[in-house]
Amino acid sequence: MKLMLDTSEFDTSGNRTSATCHWKCGDACATPVLNQSENLYSKNIIEEAIDRRSILKGGFTGLMLLSGVSSLLPVAAQNSGLGFKPISLSTEDKTLLPQGYESNVVIRWGDPIARGAKRFDVGTFDAKTQEASFGYNNDYVSFLPLPGFQSKRSNQALLWANHEYTNPELMFAGYTAGKATKEQVDVELAAHGGTIVQVFRDNSGNIEYQAVSRYNRRITATTPMEITGPAAGHPLLQTKADPTGKRVLGMLNNCAGGTTPWGTILTAEENFNQYFAFNDNVKDANIKALHARYGMTAKASGRVWENHYERFNLEANPNEPFRYGFIVEIDPYDPTMTPKKRTALGRFKHEGAETSLAADGRVVMYMGDDERFDYMYKFVSKGRFNASNRAANMDLLDEGTLYVARVNADGTGEWVPMVVGNGKLTAENGFATQADICIKTRQAADLLGATKMDRPEDFERNPVTGAIYCVLTNNSRRTAAQIDAANPRADNKDGHILELLEEGNDAAATKFKWSLFLVCGNPNDPSTFFAGFAKEKVSAVATPDNISFDNAGNMWIATDGMENSTLKANDGVFVVPTRGAARGQVQQFMSTVKGAEVCGPIFTPDNKNFFAAIQHPGEGGTVEKPVSLFPDGVGVPRPSVIAIKKTDGGIIGT
Ligand code: FEO
Ligand code: CA
Ligand code: CA
Repeated sequence: MKLMLDTSEFDTSGNRTSATCHWKCGDACATPVLNQSENLYSKNIIEEAIDRRSILKGGFTGLMLLSGVSSLLPVAAQNSGLGFKPISLSTEDKTLLPQGYESNVVIRWGDPIARGAKRFDVGTFDAKTQEASFGYNNDYVSFLPLPGFQSKRSNQALLWANHEYTNPELMFAGYTAGKATKEQVDVELAAHGGTIVQVFRDNSGNIEYQAVSRYNRRITATTPMEITGPAAGHPLLQTKADPTGKRVLGMLNNCAGGTTPWGTILTAEENFNQYFAFNDNVKDANIKALHARYGMTAKASGRVWENHYERFNLEANPNEPFRYGFIVEIDPYDPTMTPKKRTALGRFKHEGAETSLAADGRVVMYMGDDERFDYMYKFVSKGRFNASNRAANMDLLDEGTLYVARVNADGTGEWVPMVVGNGKLTAENGFATQADICIKTRQAADLLGATKMDRPEDFERNPVTGAIYCVLTNNSRRTAAQIDAANPRADNKDGHILELLEEGNDAAATKFKWSLFLVCGNPNDPSTFFAGFAKEKVSAVATPDNISFDNAGNMWIATDGMENSTLKANDGVFVVPTRGAARGQVQQFMSTVKGAEVCGPIFTPDNKNFFAAIQHPGEGGTVEKPVSLFPDGVGVPRPSVIAIKKTDGGIIGT
């Protein structure tokens, strides 16, 4: 039973939206589709090469053969090395793992990370304590070996976790929606952002955190940050509080992210629009329209931070949202570093930022804009990665070329450069400089005919084969008239995953081939597809969100929202081989507790520990009426990063 919030939001079926919709995405599911461009769906770009009905009847094999990404992969088929007995879908309020596996809580909301921090007590928790404690709703997790990133050690490291958003109804007794006090808002500001803590592997193979370390650090929604790259200082980024347009307080709604080859964290600002109120009161019609494409609301925000901090009120500060929606780079090895918002990587509802290296050493980043009918992007740096001089890489992400994807129905695709002078990106259309493109990225992509996708979440490159995977979590608004080869289902409740191979398997290429890797759901549903694997032998999976690869090249999938998919089960973790005879054999590895989604996921370099961030456990309840008390069974539910190990100390999954 989801919490019924007094927000008067309804989804398209007339149902009240859930706590997840409300706090995580600002009721994105209840708002009209934001991308009203006349952009083409992939079927229109090239006359559809495959008849849609034959794709659906034939389980997509026609499309697979036509595009044939897997057959182009350069590495010979190998055994996946997986050997555990899969578990089943569950609705139990319990962490379920296969036989021979166990988990421990590494760190949970409110655990102190600085000397002098008070012990957690939900009744007395204040902003000062929160600033010295692990934040709320952990999402992206990164494991950064000590003494340095290149050491690849697994027993001493720094752990990074994003804190995407807050659930005030689970943080404060008696919380009243729309009436948050300043004290509550201050805790929420401090509970957003990210945390760096030192961790170690103990004698039993568990990962533990150190409450005191010179590296431990909280980044929050008020931490001073620098804005860098083409848009830094642009008039649209200037505000009363910051006339330079280069300094901003904090980051908002950091969902997934990535880790660079030089050992810095990239953390992605996603649904930043929900924090800003009263777009209808913005006097400049142009600015109002720019904000509307990003989902800025006419009304009070759900969190009502604007009642206590004017920067969230668009009437008084119409430019403030132009300073959010970026990828933020943070050096976890330098606790004094000022985080940098890298505007060259574009401004949208960034989900993640997966880096890879091109054949010539340039840095390539794959990024999804997580909104129904929004786009897939990549960035290619101008400079090259320098493996022997870490400092030389620190500003690589400030200069390069941003691309948006056009996905053709014949199994090909292009990365279209987002540069002034390309197509309609002209001064007359509002794109006089690269800064304009980096601020109004969605509008620029609309003009380039990018392909409208089913909510692009995580992107990852398979470290063994080089194939790229884009996770499309769901899109219940796609109609039958809007389905296309790359987004093949109307009312896509269960999501799918695309597999892309860059030309020459070079991440800097501007052309790629693609195919459907998974079309998720119940295997008995004829619209599902598991890379051609026998459907009777796979686990049902839906709403894929974040993925990660083990050292053997198997894909590990964490899900978000299976409760609202056709499977109606708790979220979990699934593994699927990407090559060899077992390619497509999805197996369930973990099931999480009520109300939660699973984030992370990530391995130690030796693959003997697997981190999962259990986000929003017990969502749907309140402090007074909990539906889960994960992880401790007392008090309130607490978002936590857990570490899973094999009881015998072996490699995860074997
Ligand atoms: Fe925060 Fe796109 O999930
Ligand atoms: Ca996500
Ligand atoms: Ca990822």
